Amino acid sequence: DQTRQIAEILAEFRLTQDQLLEVKKRMLTEIQTGLSKKTQDKATVKMLPTYVRSTPDGTENGDFLALDLGGTNFRVLLVKIRSGKRRTVEMHNKIYAIPIEVMQGTGEELFDHIVACISDFLDYMGMKNARLPLGFTFSFPCRQTSLDAGILVNWTKGFKATDCEGEDVVNLLREGIKRREEFDLDVVAVVNDTVGTMMTCAYEEPTCEVGLIAGTGSNACYMEEMKNIETVDGDQGRMCVNMEWGAFGDNGCLDDIRTQYDRAVDDLSLNPGKQRYEKMCSGMYLGEIVRNILIDLTKRGFLFRGQISETLKTRGIFETKFLSQIESDRLALLQVRSILQHLGLDSTCDDSIIVKEVCGAVSRRAAQICGAGMAAVVDKIRENRGLDHLDITVGVDGTLYKLHPHFSRIMHQTVKELAPKCDVNFLLSEDGSGKGAALITAVGCRLREQEQ
Ligand code: BG6
Ligand code: GLC
Repeated sequence: DQTRQIAEILAEFRLTQDQLLEVKKRMLTEIQTGLSKKTQDKATVKMLPTYVRSTPDGTENGDFLALDLGGTNFRVLLVKIRSGKRRTVEMHNKIYAIPIEVMQGTGEELFDHIVACISDFLDYMGMKNARLPLGFTFSFPCRQTSLDAGILVNWTKGFKATDCEGEDVVNLLREGIKRREEFDLDVVAVVNDTVGTMMTCAYEEPTCEVGLIAGTGSNACYMEEMKNIETVDGDQGRMCVNMEWGAFGDNGCLDDIRTQYDRAVDDLSLNPGKQRYEKMCSGMYLGEIVRNILIDLTKRGFLFRGQISETLKTRGIFETKFLSQIESDRLALLQVRSILQHLGLDSTCDDSIIVKEVCGAVSRRAAQICGAGMAAVVDKIRENRGLDHLDITVGVDGTLYKLHPHFSRIMHQTVKELAPKCDVNFLLSEDGSGKGAALITAVGCRLREQEQ
C-alpha cells in the first residue's frame, strides 16, 4: 500500500506524449502573443528584442572586458579576439562571490560590489588605464531599445536588490563606475546569457541560431525574422529574441500539469506566481520540489521513520550537484545514503531507494518540458523558413545540463519526438557566455565607428 501511494504521488510527474505536445503547442501560442504588437503588453513569454542582428562572421577583433552576472558564478573576463585566417580567442577570467546580502540589498550596494570586483580584476591584469569596451552579460529580463540600453523588467532567480527594476542596468553600471572615480570603461552592450551562449557557439558553428540555458534558471533565445518582431521597426533580416520563457505559465496555462509541490515551491519563493515554468525545470528549484515531496512522504510516514529533521526543513539543501550525484547510475545505494548523510539526512536503505525515485521523477519531467519548449522553438524557425525539414544547432549551457546524468539525454529525446521534422544538434558551450558577449561588443564597436 505504501508503494502504491508513493507511486501515485510520483505519477503526477509523469507526462504523456499528448500532454507534452500540448505544452509545445501552448509555448507556441505564448511566443505569438509576445511577438505581436497588439498582445505583447499582456504577454507572459516576453520575447524581448536584443538588437543582435547576426551571429559572428570571424571578422570580430579587439580586446574586450566582459562581465557575467546572474548564474552560479559572477565573473569578470578579459577576452582578446583576433580575426583573420587564424582566428583566435584568448580569455582570462576571475570568479567573484556575490554575498546573499548583496544580491538582496540595495541596487547601489550591488553595483558598487560589481565595480569593486572589476577594479580588483583590472589590478590583477595590470590594466587600470586601458578604458576598454565592455560587454555586460546580465542574465535577467531586460527591455532593450538598443544594444547598450536595457531596462530590468523584474529580478528572477535569487536576486532581489532594490531600486533596479524599471532602471537601465547599463546606467546603473556606469553610475557605479563614476562613484568609484578610479577608472573608466566604455559599456557597449548588455547581453542575456542565452544570447551570449548562442554567440559563443556560433563562433565555432555557424548553424547555431538558438541559445538554451538549463542552469540556475531556464531560458532560450533564437534568431527570429524581423518581419515577425512587431515590436521593432523594420522588416529586413533577423534579430535575436530573448524569449524569457521561464515566465511561461504565469497566466495559468500550465496549471493542469502543476502539482501541489510546484505550488508549494512557488509560494515560498522570492517571486511567488512568477517564472512558473522555470520553477518546474531549472536547477534552482528542482531540489526544492524534491524536498517538498520528501516532506510530504515523511509526514505520511513513508520516509525517515516519519521524522521531519531540521535539515529537511531547510530551503535549498538539494543543490543541482547533489541531485546529479544521487541520480548517477554509477553510484551504489550505499553511496546515495552517504550523500544523504552528508546533507544531514539519516536514511535507511529503503529511504534511499525512494529518494532516488523522487529525484528521477522530478528531473525527468523537467527535461521533458524543457524539450517541449525547445521543440516549439525549432518548429517555429522551420515554419518561418517555409521548410519541410530543418537542420539547426542549439548552443547550450548551464549546470543542470552539464552536471545531471540524465537531463540532457531526456531533453534531446523529447525534442526529437515532438519536433520530428527538425534535426537538432546540441552544442555545449565550453567557454560560457562571456565570450559571446565580447563578440557582440566587437560588432557594437564596429557599428559605432561606421555611424560616426
Ligand atoms: C554560463 C554563463 O556559461 O552559464 C552564465 O556564462 C550563465 O552567465 C550560466 O548564467 C548558466 O548556468 P548556471 O547553471 O550557472 O546558472
Ligand atoms: C532567468 C532569467 C533569464 C536567464 C535565465 C537563465 O530565467 O530571467 O534572463 O536567461 O534565468 O540564466
